[in-house]
Amino acid sequence: MSFEEKEPIIEKYATLSIPGKDPIKLPILKGTMGPECIDIRELGKQGYFTYDPGFTSTASTTSRLTFIDGKKGVLLYRGYPIDQLATKTDYLQVCYLLLKGELPNKEQFADFTFKVKHHTLVHNQMESLFQAFRRDSHPMAVLCGVAGALSAFYHETLDIYDPAHRENTAIRLIAKMPTLAAMSYKYSIGHPFIYPRNDLSYVANFLHMMFATPCEEYKVNPVIERALDRIFILHADHEQNASTSSVRLAGSTGANPYACIAAGIASLWGPAHGGANEACLRMLQEIGSLDKIPQYIARAKDKNDPFRLFGFGHRVYKTFDPRALVMRETCHEVLNELHITDNPALQVATELERIALSDSYFIERNLYPNVDFYSGIILNAIGIPTSMFTVIFALARTIGWISHWIEMQGSANLRLGRPRQIYMGKEVRNVKPIYRR
Ligand code: ACO
Repeated sequence: MSFEEKEPIIEKYATLSIPGKDPIKLPILKGTMGPECIDIRELGKQGYFTYDPGFTSTASTTSRLTFIDGKKGVLLYRGYPIDQLATKTDYLQVCYLLLKGELPNKEQFADFTFKVKHHTLVHNQMESLFQAFRRDSHPMAVLCGVAGALSAFYHETLDIYDPAHRENTAIRLIAKMPTLAAMSYKYSIGHPFIYPRNDLSYVANFLHMMFATPCEEYKVNPVIERALDRIFILHADHEQNASTSSVRLAGSTGANPYACIAAGIASLWGPAHGGANEACLRMLQEIGSLDKIPQYIARAKDKNDPFRLFGFGHRVYKTFDPRALVMRETCHEVLNELHITDNPALQVATELERIALSDSYFIERNLYPNVDFYSGIILNAIGIPTSMFTVIFALARTIGWISHWIEMQGSANLRLGRPRQIYMGKEVRNVKPIYRR
């Protein structure tokens, strides 16, 4: 297995003409796949910045983890298509793949699974930390706090320049996030925390910690276990999205990795990003019946109304989100297994999808259902409360965040992330004191 960093190839140059200046030659960088990229580093030296709000045209880094072709609807983790990973592997194998670059063989997988399973407990003092939160706190607020607080617990393995310490941090995070996520749920409903069980699979253990009580075991349904495992796989990584970029930006300062993950969790929470699954289910429930759909479609199209159809559109995918296709199939499997035939949210979702895919407003803007369109319906059917949807996304995405953090820390090109701005404020002026000092 090789983790050597490869530099992009330079085959040609772009020339930038700025009036009154000599032409500036800018290398055009070519990665393994994907669009070519103009290297603008020279511009800063010449006194120019580039302006790209929302970073729609900016590559912030090179990466070997994930590839997306938004026009073709392709998503690859380390070169493997997402649908193959979702149907032929499980989440822990995908964690290994993202972290180490290759799928594990049987021995490697047994060793990795053992390590993860033996880090699932959190420090007992964490329980006191939970007690400090209001019971009605949103579980994402709690998760932000407790994940960041992990940085206060593992001083002995926090040398970010030591690859063994970095890997140890990754194992801890993969292992402890389900425990913390389930604790945030149990706390919100006033139930005692349920300790992890290392005889169960990663996903079955999470379901156990969520739904078992000291009075009753939770019997894990294999169809539900598999569905949740797929949700975890599909959410594991997604290139330089907002939350991953938050982790990288925080990580570029040399900050503690657990604190960097907390930055990712905070960024994921917003409804334009990971919070969309929660917002989408609430929207489907609010629409409630097929006859109300046209009024919501009209609102989504109205420029004067901030309402958007949650679960539609994506910054990168301009066709079907490949994760949504897998998710749609899994959604039907779960509803069949649970004999849910008259789920109003699913009926509304199916009709919304049909209308949006044939409506010129959505077609012209390439607005297709994204991964969050179906995940909420599945999680709801499993019995997971809406406020926990983004927590589950965060749990699954932790492997992506920490893999990016590790990739970044090991990179020869690591530099402090520090964007610039176009200043539009007041010109320099003098203070007029309101009293004498
Ligand atoms: N409903 C209605 N109109 C929409 C929607 C939507 N969901 N999404 C985009 N549009 C419209 C915009 O109004 C805009 O129209 P205009 O060109 O007439 O002004 C056009 O489509 C382009 O939209 P942008 O906001 O410029 O696209 P951007 O790439 O910045 O936004 C985003 C992507 C934020 C995901 C957006 O589509 C959205 O808000 N979707 C709903 C929230 C959602 O589902 N987010 C989850 C994304 S997946 C994830 O993070 C896991």
